[in-house]
Amino acid sequence: MTDKLIIFDTTLRDGEQSPGASMTRDEKLRIARQLERLKVDVIEAGFAASSNGDFECVKAIAEAVRDSTICSLARANDRDISRAAEALKPAASGRLHLFLATSALHMEKKLRMTPDQVFEQAKLSVRFARNLMGDIEFSPEDGYRSDPDFLCRVLEAVIKEGATTINVPDTVGYAIPELYGNFIKNLRERIPNSDKAIWSVHCHNDLGMAVANSLAGVKIGGARQVECTINGLGERAGNCSLEEVVMAVKTRKDYFGLDLGIDTQHILAASRMVSQTTGFVVQPNKAVVGANAFAHASGIHQDGVLKARDTYEIMRAEDVGWSANKIVLGKLSGRNAFKQRLLELGVAMESEADINNAFAKFKELADRKSDIFDEDILALASDESASHDNEQYGFVSLSQHSETGERPQASVVFTVAGKEVKGESDGNGPVDASLKAIESHVKSGAEMVLYSVNAISGSTESQGEVTVRLQNSGRVVNGVGADPDIVVASAKAYLSALNKLQSKADRVAAQG
Ligand code: KIV
Ligand code: ZN
Repeated sequence: MTDKLIIFDTTLRDGEQSPGASMTRDEKLRIARQLERLKVDVIEAGFAASSNGDFECVKAIAEAVRDSTICSLARANDRDISRAAEALKPAASGRLHLFLATSALHMEKKLRMTPDQVFEQAKLSVRFARNLMGDIEFSPEDGYRSDPDFLCRVLEAVIKEGATTINVPDTVGYAIPELYGNFIKNLRERIPNSDKAIWSVHCHNDLGMAVANSLAGVKIGGARQVECTINGLGERAGNCSLEEVVMAVKTRKDYFGLDLGIDTQHILAASRMVSQTTGFVVQPNKAVVGANAFAHASGIHQDGVLKARDTYEIMRAEDVGWSANKIVLGKLSGRNAFKQRLLELGVAMESEADINNAFAKFKELADRKSDIFDEDILALASDESASHDNEQYGFVSLSQHSETGERPQASVVFTVAGKEVKGESDGNGPVDASLKAIESHVKSGAEMVLYSVNAISGSTESQGEVTVRLQNSGRVVNGVGADPDIVVASAKAYLSALNKLQSKADRVAAQG
């Protein structure tokens, strides 16, 4: 008898709600394909009724992904539900995820509805959804802070109407593991038809306990679905992190006794892709996917690991996609070796043309940098699949001069709709001068709200990966650029952010 834990990934919906993490349709599609390779059971692709852009994203993912169930969020009303069902039509397997707040605070202050009205709306919305689709998830928003008696009444009714998954969100990250686990256990014990639905946990990380709370919901509460995001991406302090929850359940199978469908070797590539796309850098000491997660610096640890690996290692780095041999390729490596390495890293390119382009960039990089690490290849692959022929701005070349006691000068050549232009400026430093040189031509007027540089493989020989976050007319976007020269990386990141600002994605805040 297997007892499976369903992994529901909401990187593309709840993760994307994080300010600055908004993604384009192509970026979402690329991440969805990676989630499918990871064998995620359910992918929450977006909130179809929130904007035409989101509708199109859900639809495109429903068309492209065949092996995971595709889900759309919907408020508990007929219009939202119909729109979500419409976007999910092409899906091989689709799910409608309805939500309606049930805490006294949310009902009174946000919805301005009485508990009886909420009860009726929950019931009717599930009835309506059930006529459109067989797989229906219902979430009582702010469920953990809701009155348990009222929650039991609502959840019993929606299960009776045909909800197949009941998700209990800790919307504001207020829960404590033992209390949250018992909260779910009590609901399941008190609700007479609770066995007719799969129970799910959805925890936010405001007190740093999203993973612990989710695991308690599984172990104590008996939940069999965890909602999570890659790298724990999400609003405020984020959501429960997929890689941590998956590796905890896999590594401690002795304790949880649960099976997973996840192919963990694709975890690192997924983490890298999400970080590169959103510009949310993964901290080096982050469990499972941080650069130091498997690095043993102390002599005692190194000695122990060399003698017997399990003295200090509870997981194998290779199992989550890290390679044992970190220096992987050099300038003499051929296309086949490059393609093979992409495969080993879990990176699938859409076409031979994409591989050729990425390989050309790899050769360029190898001419300038003697050792190419996995991180370089992952950055290069993300960069390749993120670039589009129809982008407004493209980097061409840059020259800058800086000398102690003199004001730095920069001149940047870039393309605007395919035509080369040159911008020149001075600035406080070479990066500042280069970005001002671009801005002198583009005149976007955008405000820079974040600039960060990260050494991809940890030394001055490595590529610098720069994230630039720009804000303009209420929109916040991230641009990412990588290059051994951090001034060039900065210019690439700035142009990438300008491209995103320029794209006409219309979106509204996901939650109503
Ligand atoms: O945190 C939350 O309550 C949510 C629901 C919409 C499921 O994301
Ligand atoms: Zn949430």
